[in-house]
Amino acid sequence: MNTKPSADELFERRISYPDFEPQARFARLVGLDDHKQRLTKMLGLLVNPAGLEAWAKRHHPGAQKLLDIVLRRPPLVVLAGDVGSGKTELAETVGDAVARQEGIEITLLPLSLATRGQGRVGEMTQLLSAAFDYTAAEATKLKSASGRARGAVILLVDEADALAQSREAAQMHHEDRAGVNAFIRGVDRLASARLPAAVIMCTNRLSALDPAVRRRAAEVLSFSRPNDEQRRQVLTDCLQPLGFSRANIDALVAATGAKTGAHEFGFTFSDLTQRLVPAIVLAAYPGAAADPATALHIAKTMAPTPPFQDGRPGERIQR
Ligand SMILES: Nc1ncnc2c1ncn2[C@@H]1O[C@H](COP(=O)(O)OP(=O)(O)OP(=O)(O)O)[C@@H](O)[C@H]1O
Ligand SMILES: [Mg+2]
Repeated sequence: MNTKPSADELFERRISYPDFEPQARFARLVGLDDHKQRLTKMLGLLVNPAGLEAWAKRHHPGAQKLLDIVLRRPPLVVLAGDVGSGKTELAETVGDAVARQEGIEITLLPLSLATRGQGRVGEMTQLLSAAFDYTAAEATKLKSASGRARGAVILLVDEADALAQSREAAQMHHEDRAGVNAFIRGVDRLASARLPAAVIMCTNRLSALDPAVRRRAAEVLSFSRPNDEQRRQVLTDCLQPLGFSRANIDALVAATGAKTGAHEFGFTFSDLTQRLVPAIVLAAYPGAAADPATALHIAKTMAPTPPFQDGRPGERIQR
């Protein structure tokens, strides 16, 4: 228990950018243009603080103090919101956009807390400390004296609901608090060393986000279910190539929206891409072409995933 987990034990895999596969996944994400832009810019600045200095020299000479404020922000972004809304997908692919923008290589180290750190007391704290140690070591190798790093590391702390539990919540277990503290310490360490490293935290519990975590976040980006227009876009991307007309798709858009009396919430992005579209395809396979009438029937009988019940600090992981 005292031996430090190795990199292989901490992260199931590491992802390097640029790469075509994440580039295509990033482009496919609907309705997140603003999030994409803010995240890419923020991560870009961490890697290349000299970029902001060049910008200031051109537009705002003498604004050095202001630059320090921007550049000293802790390198933390929180992606928070409903299930199946693109948090993990954006976190796993934004590195590609940054790598291309800055012309450097970026590595993502993904740590999921949902499947890990639920065992023995102290395990989550130990996992987090080790993950930050590893991230800091990797980023130190990439730092350069010139102000432009040779590369950068993104630590993804996914499914971090236990960490988002407010430290103020009375029910919060001692161990969770230790986990939150380890997380905050880790972020502070990366910030004070000015390493080319950033942390992305994903959680479903925006309202329960710990105040100390929220205070450090350079950005808190919130994610929600798709509106009519966004559902139309996802469905058009998937179903237009199968020959579905605009009217066919409009009917599906209506069938997958919120309904008074039935379910008061619509389909999530993942309900559309991971349940509805595959069901439409499988209903037709292998004998026939996909058929809009059957597709509509499937959509009408499929129940959307209920929203995550936020703000239940009493709900705890079983130990
Ligand atoms: N904005 C989006 N545009 C298009 N497809 C999306 C979008 N968001 C999610 N999807 C689809 O849903 C799948 C699941 O998304 P993702 O894993 O990112 O959800 P999440 O927000 O991390 O959910 P959870 O909170 O359950 O972990 C994606 O692989 C993608 O197919
Ligand atoms: Mg996720």
